[in-house]
Amino acid sequence: MKFKGVIFDLDGVICFTDDLHYLAWKALADRLGIYFDRKINDRLRGVSRMESLDIVLERASRVYSAEEKIALATEKNATYVELLSKMRPSDVDDDVRRTLVELKEAGVKIAIGSSSKNARIILRQTGLEQTFDAISDGNNISRSKPDPEVFLKAADMLGLSSCDCLVVEDALSGIEAGKAGGFSTAGIGPAANFPLTDYALSTLSDLLPLVFFSH
Ligand code: BG6
Ligand code: MG
Repeated sequence: MKFKGVIFDLDGVICFTDDLHYLAWKALADRLGIYFDRKINDRLRGVSRMESLDIVLERASRVYSAEEKIALATEKNATYVELLSKMRPSDVDDDVRRTLVELKEAGVKIAIGSSSKNARIILRQTGLEQTFDAISDGNNISRSKPDPEVFLKAADMLGLSSCDCLVVEDALSGIEAGKAGGFSTAGIGPAANFPLTDYALSTLSDLLPLVFFSH
């Protein structure tokens, strides 16, 4: 076995909550009259809620106070949580479920390493709450990706060192965080082709041979 553990980002890797983040930010930006599109949304991948808001507000015509920003982030999160409440187990692809089952059956430890404070809600909605051996998320970190903290904590929870774990990400900040922590990285979606990405995945199950066989 090449890796003893796999640490998965959640939004955009295990499920398509990246699109729900987009819809919630878009609703806020539209209400404020600020231009926002999917290309800008790509810059929010892996980035914390407040840092994401700062990116959304880059195109605002006025400056917002710290109190106003908290209210705006709360408004976006309320929209997002409402969208999450409609998520179902069927929102997780069969390929993703099969990948997780095969890793577990082979004795590979699996963890979530997500910047989101809503990670547990998403895992509950999709029926994955009991699937992972460890969950490291936005509630147990003080520094966001590209800082490696969230992945180092996940590896620690698994009882593994970073050189034994593969980090799977869709975000540049996440790939940078993985490399900064000494992990091997696999990129999916936009992250498949970043220079720092060690392995490009076109679908999640592409990681199975990487984990099971030495290269
Ligand atoms: C990351 C997403 O997983 O979580 C980011 O890629 C998001 O887009 C971040 O901003 C924080 O999420 P939340 O749910 O705590 O607002
Ligand atoms: Mg992501």
